[in-house]
Amino acid sequence: MFSKKKETPQIDPQQRELYEHARKRIIQKKRLFQHFILFIVGAVFFAILNIVFGYGKEITFFGSNWYIIAILCWAFLFVLHFCNVWLFSKFMGQAWVDRQMEQLIIKQKKEIALLQKDVDLMYPKEELLKKKEEFIKEKTTRVATEPIKSKRMVTMIAAAGENNALGKDNDLVWHLPDDFKRFKKMTTGHHIIMGRKTFESFPKLLPNRVHVVITRDKTYQAEGTIVVHTIKDALDIAKADEQPFIIGGGEIYSLGLEYTDCIELTRIHESFDADAFFPEIDTKTWKLEKEEFHDIDEKHKHPFTYLTYKRK
Ligand SMILES: NC(=O)c1ccc[n+]([C@@H]2O[C@H](COP(=O)([O-])OP(=O)(O)OC[C@H]3O[C@@H](n4cnc5c(N)ncnc54)[C@H](OP(=O)(O)O)[C@@H]3O)[C@@H](O)[C@H]2O)c1
Repeated sequence: MFSKKKETPQIDPQQRELYEHARKRIIQKKRLFQHFILFIVGAVFFAILNIVFGYGKEITFFGSNWYIIAILCWAFLFVLHFCNVWLFSKFMGQAWVDRQMEQLIIKQKKEIALLQKDVDLMYPKEELLKKKEEFIKEKTTRVATEPIKSKRMVTMIAAAGENNALGKDNDLVWHLPDDFKRFKKMTTGHHIIMGRKTFESFPKLLPNRVHVVITRDKTYQAEGTIVVHTIKDALDIAKADEQPFIIGGGEIYSLGLEYTDCIELTRIHESFDADAFFPEIDTKTWKLEKEEFHDIDEKHKHPFTYLTYKRK
């Protein structure tokens, strides 16, 4: 059933090194020989061009004919190549590199030993060990007694009229481009938790966000989303996210309020006819931290204010 593996002959590392070296030398010599042939042919070609065809006879450099200068320059390059293969590689080959490396390592080791001596003088070893132990002890007791701080901030983001209107017939009842931009900027890269109805009001998935859809329907599926059946599961899915967003609609805002740390509310200064509403913000629980007014302009028919509430 199993085919027998072909045994490969074992080459010891020394042999392998010798073989590699020989291979490199052969390639170097081959290139040098090719260069030599090319140089001879090129020199003859220059000479014929000048002597037989009289090409560029009038061109001279430093009193000599151009082709002699060209051949001399090339000859110089060829000699360099020759030296590289036959002289430099002999005196400055791998053995020379290894020797240099060894010397450098010895020098570095000496310097490290000197530095270590200085460190030992400044900070005696026993003292350092003692300090390290104290530090570890202090850190462990601090971690054990401190309450666990969670950096996560569950954020609710919504736009609502003065009467808390959110939308009607599963759609919004205003168009505020700057608010959309702010929503996009804030939520991009995060989990967005929403009710099934809000999800279905989107024309398509919102790019670069993880969609978590809440429904009671155990058979519900929607491509590109994570479907869950409780708000707790939704928040659990997003537990690695420092700032998951609850984005509506009315039913989900009411469900999620108790788990929320921050509310980013765009308050539109008008009342609207609606069938979905934002829950009341209890000022006993919520503190207004920031507000920023946005006036009417050609793109915004209603004035509004960005309000940031934090749980007290
Ligand atoms: N102004 C804004 O900032 C804003 C933001 C978002 C949405 N909106 C608007 O709000 C409206 C939609 O809000 P909505 O309140 O009608 O719907 P919704 O909150 O988006 O979704 C309601 C759905 O969520 C699921 N759900 C609710 N409670 C649940 C629970 N306890 N357990 C499991 N699933 C639960 C149910 O899905 P199933 O029926 O599938 O079980 C329910 O039908 C639309 O007009 C939309 O445009 C406005």
